[in-house]
Amino acid sequence: MNNTPALKTVLLTGASGGFGYEYAQQLEALGYALLLHGRDKARLKLTMDALLHPERHRCVFADLSSRKATEAFIDALADEEIFGLVNNAGFGVWGDFSKRESIAQADVVRVDLLTPMMLTHALLPCLKKNQGFVINVSSLAGESPMPYMATYAAAKAGMTYWSEALRIELEGQVHVVTLAPGPSPTGFRDISGAPKGKGSFYSTSAHKVVAASLVCLAQGGGYCVPGIRHKLLWLTQKIVPRFLQLKILASYLKK
Ligand SMILES: NC(=O)c1ccc[n+]([C@@H]2O[C@H](COP(=O)([O-])OP(=O)(O)OC[C@H]3O[C@@H](n4cnc5c(N)ncnc54)[C@H](OP(=O)(O)O)[C@@H]3O)[C@@H](O)[C@H]2O)c1
Repeated sequence: MNNTPALKTVLLTGASGGFGYEYAQQLEALGYALLLHGRDKARLKLTMDALLHPERHRCVFADLSSRKATEAFIDALADEEIFGLVNNAGFGVWGDFSKRESIAQADVVRVDLLTPMMLTHALLPCLKKNQGFVINVSSLAGESPMPYMATYAAAKAGMTYWSEALRIELEGQVHVVTLAPGPSPTGFRDISGAPKGKGSFYSTSAHKVVAASLVCLAQGGGYCVPGIRHKLLWLTQKIVPRFLQLKILASYLKK
């Protein structure tokens, strides 16, 4: 008879790169069994191969920009005993709002905001029963409007407000972390289509970003701006008047 207690399961979306790759490493080190979600099989395999105990974890696939695929994904999770959910999958599109395809912009809102809401809503009964957690990977982009990444900033503002409100509604039942990072060197910028930049003074490693969110979780949840550089950026967003922020961001992002 095997007396080893079953490991608690965490569903991690967007595990195939960037923050997701880091979350996989750091959550495994905390002793969780992982449901690693992605679209790209080969990239998700790289995440799995980098883990110390691949036999503990499983891969799941879904295009979260499709409502139908998300509903099928949720149905497939019905029998899972999930303890933690990390809503990490996301992307942005760079460029003039009027020139980028509206479908791509709608997909940003779906993947970055609507799908996390659908997944969280479906899993909450289980997360409540297990007194588990949700980590919502938002962004400092949600703290101020961003010309040339207008839809992304709107989606992340929505996520931050929703996640922070949820944290209060779920107090004492489910721990909620709203992670709001600034720039970090992942695949994000390339996928957005933004021109290659010089890199930002505020850039902070994915390792530090993810570690800060897990410290916040261990402290019971909250709004987490990771690392000193991102905190500095957040402070700047709070003290510089909006009209000036808009001018600075527009000149930085227009290219
Ligand atoms: N890096 C930054 O500077 C930064 C700053 C603030 C917030 N964030 C947020 O951090 C989160 C992770 O991004 P990242 O920086 O790690 O970027 P990344 O390296 O590009 O990873 C994005 C992840 O999201 C998944 N994804 C994208 N579109 C998807 C879709 N339609 N359906 C399913 N999965 C999808 C990707 O899966 P596939 O590879 O399988 O497509 C990938 O695993 C995002 O929510 C992003 O907004 C990033």
